Amino acid sequence: MEEHIKKTISELKDQIGKEVTLSGWLYNNRPSGKLQFLILRDGSGLCQCVIERGGIPDALYDALAHLGQESSLSVTGTVRAEPRSPGGYELAVTGTQIHGTATDYPITPKEHGIDFLLQNRHLHLRSQRPWCIGRIRHTVIDAIRRFFNDNGFTLVDTPIFTTLAGEGEQTLFEVDYFGQPLHLAQTGQLYLESAAMSFGRVYCFGPTFRAEKSKTRRHLTEFWMVEPEVAYIDLNGLLELAEHFVTSIVRRVLRDNRSELETLGADIPALEKIAPPFVRLTYTEAADILTHRKTKDFMEQQLAELRDQKVKFESELADIEARDKKGGLKKWQQEKNARRVQQLRSDIAELEVKIENNPKHAQLAADFRWGKDLGGSDETIISTMHDKPVFVTHYPKNAKAFYMKADRTNDKVVENFDLLAPAGFGEIIGGSVREDDYDRLMARIREEGYNPQHYSWYLDLRKYGSVPHGGFGLGVERTVAWITGEKHIRQCIAFPRLMDKVYL
Ligand code: 4AD
Repeated sequence: MEEHIKKTISELKDQIGKEVTLSGWLYNNRPSGKLQFLILRDGSGLCQCVIERGGIPDALYDALAHLGQESSLSVTGTVRAEPRSPGGYELAVTGTQIHGTATDYPITPKEHGIDFLLQNRHLHLRSQRPWCIGRIRHTVIDAIRRFFNDNGFTLVDTPIFTTLAGEGEQTLFEVDYFGQPLHLAQTGQLYLESAAMSFGRVYCFGPTFRAEKSKTRRHLTEFWMVEPEVAYIDLNGLLELAEHFVTSIVRRVLRDNRSELETLGADIPALEKIAPPFVRLTYTEAADILTHRKTKDFMEQQLAELRDQKVKFESELADIEARDKKGGLKKWQQEKNARRVQQLRSDIAELEVKIENNPKHAQLAADFRWGKDLGGSDETIISTMHDKPVFVTHYPKNAKAFYMKADRTNDKVVENFDLLAPAGFGEIIGGSVREDDYDRLMARIREEGYNPQHYSWYLDLRKYGSVPHGGFGLGVERTVAWITGEKHIRQCIAFPRLMDKVYL
């Protein structure tokens, strides 16, 4: 095959009328009489390639007609606009070259269980949903770096092998460091506080490890967290920083990944509403809301809506299954139906869990007592009540980490916040102003039963020019899950590490 200008599918919009070569993998092939409609994917998008019998050698035409999903090939042809092609452009093919055939590719458009897909994650990454999520994750990470780099922050890479617990000793992964017990980083924060006293505004961004015995859809044992830390900032300053930061991420994804959001069925109008100011509640206000009679009514109304939705989905599923049974559907219609059935089954399963949990969550909320940390279900209720992210501030001191600054007007609470993403998603950010008084910090370290000697360098920061300072941490996978509408954060990282399973 003659070499032509190599292009990616994402570059086709500037190539109309020109002959180009695309290289990728066979996503789908639909032979139709004397034509084949071959869908190629190349990592940058999907493109329909139309091959006419007679346009290429017959033997190659026949080989293509029997080529298995995910075979690798190059296709040369003339670019033309075609609204029915997945990316809006198609190739009128003049030549092809098969590089590597694939037979019986294990992941087909039919339904697969999540366990099967995670066992085959090395292949599943090529499928549409993981691909769209991966692209959005890339944008989220780029937007994170852009925001801090453009706002005067210096990147400081904090260590992965750490000597200190930041977020509680019970979730530390211990490693044997040449005979010395060290831990995998739970947070870069304590190191960042030291760096903030040098650079003023800093951030770290890296993998974070928590030996959390939680099997929820919001927990990984290895996740990515970005943490800014700022000298001379108060709680209001932190809230403003966080709302501008989150808004900038969402806007970038809306700008750069609209088609991925559409493919995933994400709630684009809801994302378009994300703008400062976010809702601000104190913990005490949140606790009052949870135990208020109106919340019980709200939960009952939610339950009725969930049940209605389930009935709707079940009837759509029954209709599709009846149509499938009748037979006579074209291959592409069968595949389209299979995808929809898969989606409906997963949505119904999700609704069943929500319906089962609703009364339990309503009861937990009604029984909520001041002093407890907000649980996942409490966060879900508060965030379901709002279509904008919600800051919950001033938690009880005893429910929070030792380093948080006690509120000088009410010693029972700390100057901290969690940011809850809207529509029931829950926490994506945790942050606080840090205790900057040496004696108070020492007292908190002792109260927690930590060895003050281990924290001597951290205490030094309060000895030599202590200043009000604070920061927060945003979890990348939770943010991606919220933006994409993905139910489980294990889908928001290429190779997830879960408490009960590490697949590959
Ligand atoms: O609220 P966290 O524990 O805060 C800290 O680690 C602070 N040291 C941050 C700081 O102030 N510099 O965690 C922050 C965020 C959470 O809101 C969540 O998005 C994410 O990190 N996160 C997890 N994500 C996935 N799996 C887990 N097990 C997570 N634990 C926390």
